Parts: sequence; C-alpha cells; structure tokens
Amino acid sequence: MELEQLKRELSEIKTKGDSISPTERAKYWASANMRKRELETLILKLETEQKQMAINAALMSDNLVDITIPDINKQEGSLHPITMVQREVEQTFASMGFIVEDGGHIATEFENFTAVNIGEHHPARDMQDTFWLSNGSVLRTHTSATQNRLLKTYGPEFAAIVPGLCYRNENLDASHEMAFFQVEGMMVGKDITIGNLLYFLKQALTTILRQDVEIRLRPYFFPYTEPSFEVDVSCIFCDEGCSVCKQTKWMEFCGSGMVHPNVLEMGGVDSTKYKGFAFGFGLTRLAMLKYGIDDIRVFNSGNLEALKI
Ligand code: DAH
Repeated sequence: MELEQLKRELSEIKTKGDSISPTERAKYWASANMRKRELETLILKLETEQKQMAINAALMSDNLVDITIPDINKQEGSLHPITMVQREVEQTFASMGFIVEDGGHIATEFENFTAVNIGEHHPARDMQDTFWLSNGSVLRTHTSATQNRLLKTYGPEFAAIVPGLCYRNENLDASHEMAFFQVEGMMVGKDITIGNLLYFLKQALTTILRQDVEIRLRPYFFPYTEPSFEVDVSCIFCDEGCSVCKQTKWMEFCGSGMVHPNVLEMGGVDSTKYKGFAFGFGLTRLAMLKYGIDDIRVFNSGNLEALKI
C-alpha cells in the first residue's frame, strides 16, 4: 500500500536522524529535511482522501443519516379553501341560533322540484338538468331541495342553514363546474319579515368577509319565494368600481325571498299563520371572493400552490 510505504520511509528518516551522532546531525537533516516534508504532505493528503471516501461509502449505504438537518423542501398541508369558508359560514350562523344540517346529496324528484313549487312542466326544471338515479331520485341541483325536509322536521318555527354539494349537467368553464357547493338558509316563524332576512345576511357577510358590507335587494323570480330577490353585497375590492364588480360597486351574491305559501303547505306548515324567508348562495363563489380565486376549476385541480391560502 502506497500510504504504508510512505509512512515507513518517513519513520526510517526520523530514526536515522535520531541515531546519528550530534556532530553529523545538522548535515544529515540539511539534505533529509526536504524529503521528510514531502512525505508528510503526501501522507496527510492520502489520509484525508481515505477518510472522505469512508464517509461517502457510509452515506451511500444509508448507515449515516443526520436527522437533525432541516428539510428545506418540507410542504405543510392545509384545509381546502371551501372547507375553511364552509366552517366559517357554519360557525357564523350557528352563533346566531341557526341549526346546521347536511341534507344529503340525493333528493327525491319531489324534494328537488315539486316541493319547492317547480311543477312537472315548469321551465326551471330544464335549467337545472342533473344526474338521475335509476329509482327516480336525483343528485340535488340546489340545496333548496332540503327545504321540505327542514319544514317537516323542525317546522313551524326554526332557523337552519344547509351547506353542501349540488350537481348540474353543466358545460365546464371558468365559472361552471358540474359539482359545486351551495348554502341554503331558512327561517320560519310567526312574524318573520324581509327585515329579518336583510339583518341576518348583513351580519353574516360582515363577519365572514371581515368588512362592514352593505346589502341591497333587486326584485327577481324564483318559484319557491314570493316576493323574490337577488341579493347584492357592496364590493369588497373597491369603493369606486373595479373589474370584479364590473364598475357597479355591487357584487351579485345570492337568491332569496319570502318562502312561497305552497312550499310551506307542502312541508306541513300553515301558511296563514307562519311566514319565512329563505336564501341560497354559492359557497364556491364565496370562497372565490374571499380568497381572490378567479377560476372555479382550481378547486378540484390539486394545484397546491393555488389552493394554499
Ligand atoms: N336555489 C337557488 C339556486 O340554486 C338559490 C335560491 C334562490 C335559494 C332563492 C333560495 C331562494 O332559498 O329563496 O340558484
């Protein structure tokens, strides 16, 4: 081995130097010193190389792992934006006394359409084409499909919200998915008015959007409410008009109205004694607004960069 030979030569030089008579020693070292230094340098170099090779071999065989070195590529998981906003909606309405119901994804044809005053030949059925099951039930096209069950379960006096997935046969684009989240709200009682509707929506949205928002109603038509309104919320991105509010300072937010007497009656509630309001909004849309996401397809994309809030 080269290293061993070098070491032996070095040791011989040293031993010889020690055994030499003192008078001869200075002369000896004058010529031997150069070789001695050369050998020392070579030995150090070879020894360092051998140590490095031993470390590399240990690392390759995975015997030496330093678990204290921080992992710079570590990715922490997070809740999905829709889950976060759904939880916030639930907490906000629960704190105001609303029951939170799930409702289930499957509704009977009666619950999804007839019970919310959408008769068999009503054109609204066309607009909400959906997935039909072989037993005649459907994947609910809106959370309003839960209204009938709410009335039968909790009527005639209650307040409830129902967040959850809804399904429609849609052409997919930046604002349409075939599965999307809605939240239904319903309050029924003796003296319920539009004033109550305005109050609860304003309170809830101010809490959820973290801004003191204004609410306005525009007359509209829904088969299950009379009168019916579209609810706008003041733009949370600007004061003077911007691309999100299309320069109007208002953002369309949800459908709402006073529950139609037919809907109350089909749920077993006496419409001459009790009134109610209802609203339905897109949870997906709320998440898009709250977190500034401009393409609905991001939610199901697995794009962690875009989904991390
Ligand atoms: N179901 C409606 C939709 O899917 C939303 C809606 C409008 C719900 C008015 C309501 C309401 O309860 O009163 O677009």
